[in-house]
Amino acid sequence: MSAATGSGTATTGMHRRFVLARRPDGLPQVDDFRLESVPLPTLPAGGLLVRNRFVSVDPGTRGRLGDRETYAQPLALGEVIQAATVGTVEASEHPKFKAGDWVAAAFGWQEWAASDGRGIRVVPDNGLSPSTAIGVLGIPGLTAYFGMLDIGAPQPGETVLVTSAAGAVGSAAGQIAMIRGARVVGVAGGPAKCAWLTGTLGFAGAIDHRAVSDMTAAVAAACPEGVDVLFDNVGNAMIDSVLPLMKRGGRIVVCGQMADYNRPAEQAPGLRNTRAFIGQRLTMRGLVAFDHVRQYPQAWADLTGWIRAGRLKYREDVVEGFEHLPQAFIGLFTGDNFGRRLVHLR
Ligand SMILES: NC(=O)c1ccc[n+]([C@@H]2O[C@H](COP(=O)([O-])OP(=O)(O)OC[C@H]3O[C@@H](n4cnc5c(N)ncnc54)[C@H](OP(=O)(O)O)[C@@H]3O)[C@@H](O)[C@H]2O)c1
Repeated sequence: MSAATGSGTATTGMHRRFVLARRPDGLPQVDDFRLESVPLPTLPAGGLLVRNRFVSVDPGTRGRLGDRETYAQPLALGEVIQAATVGTVEASEHPKFKAGDWVAAAFGWQEWAASDGRGIRVVPDNGLSPSTAIGVLGIPGLTAYFGMLDIGAPQPGETVLVTSAAGAVGSAAGQIAMIRGARVVGVAGGPAKCAWLTGTLGFAGAIDHRAVSDMTAAVAAACPEGVDVLFDNVGNAMIDSVLPLMKRGGRIVVCGQMADYNRPAEQAPGLRNTRAFIGQRLTMRGLVAFDHVRQYPQAWADLTGWIRAGRLKYREDVVEGFEHLPQAFIGLFTGDNFGRRLVHLR
């Protein structure tokens, strides 16, 4: 494969991309995605050409595979699957980028991309793997940061419950609450993830949601004084089971809905225990990390500082091989991943 070397130059060779072949019904299937081989892009005048090295798989992409608008437009059939990427600049006529730079972008599930430079940033040389730019220092880490600090706002000594706690967002959110002095309990699937939360991250407790039949009882046992902050990544049934245990003035961060994404919104479980909102003066708020873009530099500085100080640990779950992108994505909904799942393009 050879890249373009000059403005508008025709490239030789082909590259691969995955496009939306059909809209999933329930849990996505491999055949919902189509692998295409297309000519390499050409270097646009004044732009750059990037070879993707890491491509993300994100639960939020599920919402864009359907035909309903959420906070992002649905993908069209035949469109490249959108995702965060980290890659190397292979050719550039852009003054801000030079060949060899690592750049973070959102080029999606494809091996190469051409760009005019908008929406791309050079990955800082911070001693961490460039992949962290779309992991703990990317949308997952930023979502944890703004969700936990702006909405959860944990105080020293408070109890914070985080769901999907061994995942990319959840593990960062829980540790940020610990940095703020809270007692943190996580909900995760399986003994290995729970052991990592309590052993490596220092959570006060962990609940294996696959092993408990009564989530309210399990949370009550792990949080005997009640819950001040619920940071939820799972969905309505989880929130409903924790509502009776929320303390006065409690905050619920609605970050994600892993258990509800694969069904139409009207088929998701409802919330029944809403009386607690009155008695306990609760608030519940959602977030989208992009709304905080002006505060990203402060968040990056804090997150990087905590990583360097050993106070914020992270796991990357790297799947080798572009061709495995659909399966890597589908695995998010069965708990296959352990940490931030990325696909490495060999
Ligand atoms: N609001 C925003 O701006 C924003 C931005 C990024 C991500 N998010 C949300 O944050 C959440 C976590 O995202 P992530 O990228 O960090 O993924 P992740 O937590 O690393 O991976 C997804 C995990 O969800 C859990 N899961 C899957 N199905 C489940 C079910 N039915 N019930 C309970 N848990 C289930 C699995 O963990 P276990 O094995 O532990 O069950 C799986 O490993 C997602 O809901 C995502 O949509 C929101």
